[in-house]
This record gives sequence, structure tokens and C-alpha cells, in this order.
Amino acid sequence: MTRFIALSIALMLVAAGAPALATGASEPTDSPQINVAKTPTCGCCTAWVEHLQASGFEVRAFDVNHAQLNDIKAGFDIDPGLASCHTAVVDGYFIEGHVHADEIRRLLSERPDAAGLTVPGMPIGSPGMEMGSQQDAYETLLVDGNGETQVYRRHNQ
Ligand code: CU
Ligand code: CU
Repeated sequence: MTRFIALSIALMLVAAGAPALATGASEPTDSPQINVAKTPTCGCCTAWVEHLQASGFEVRAFDVNHAQLNDIKAGFDIDPGLASCHTAVVDGYFIEGHVHADEIRRLLSERPDAAGLTVPGMPIGSPGMEMGSQQDAYETLLVDGNGETQVYRRHNQ
């Protein structure tokens, strides 16, 4: 039952951002729509949403509780070790955590055979996680349908 709820919520998130059917290949646009599930009191989630908006994304943010958020992550088969504070969906891909807008645009233009992108945890210096001049080394990972990862971009190293 939990599994069913997880999939339902995840599919809702996907459906909310699904491009219209039967319009042929979906071209990346300058203002792609992204749906974000986050908890209402998460300040860094809001800061990440603002980062996306500043980059031209059309963001729809959904406040959910922690159990629902975990269900959504499970719905996308996001391994807990790859998880972060929020889960977004853009054009069928999941975007987990503080992924830079430029990498989401690259994903949308390259359209790899993958499930999504993640920045696991909440590294300091990633978009929405700015703390003065501190810049942690971190990696954005591309996750395939089997949960295997490869480095999509290295930061601060
Ligand atoms: Cu965060
Ligand atoms: Cu967040």
C-alpha cells in the first residue's frame, strides 16, 4: 500500500509537468517547467527554487510532509544514499537535491537515457546552500534506470 501511494504521488508530480501529448518531440524551451516537492519549513529548498526561477525556470512547488516526500523518493527508486532535501521532476526526469540549473538545462538538451540527476546530501556551496565563501567539493550524479550512477559534473575540485 505504501508502495502504491508512493507511485501515485510520484506520478502526480510527473503528470503535473508532462508536456502535452501528440505534439511530437518536446523541444527544450527557455523556460522549462519543473515541479518541486519539498517540506514547507525547508529554507534551503526555497533558496533552490529561487535559484531555478532566477535561471528562467517556471517552478511549481508542492509542500508535502516528510513521509510523503520519502514516498515520492521511493516512487522514483531514489536510493536513500543518493537522497537530499527535495525532489523535483522535469520532463520525466527526477532532480534530487541542490542540482545547478545549468545541469538541468544540459539534461533537457542532451536527453540521456537516464532516470534523473542528484546531488546527494546538501553540500555547502551548491545552489541554495550558500554559506559565505565556503565551497565544498561535490559531484552531480546522473542516475540510470537501475540506480547506477555516473559523474555528470564535478564542483569545486
Ligand atoms: Cu537542501
Ligand atoms: Cu531542498
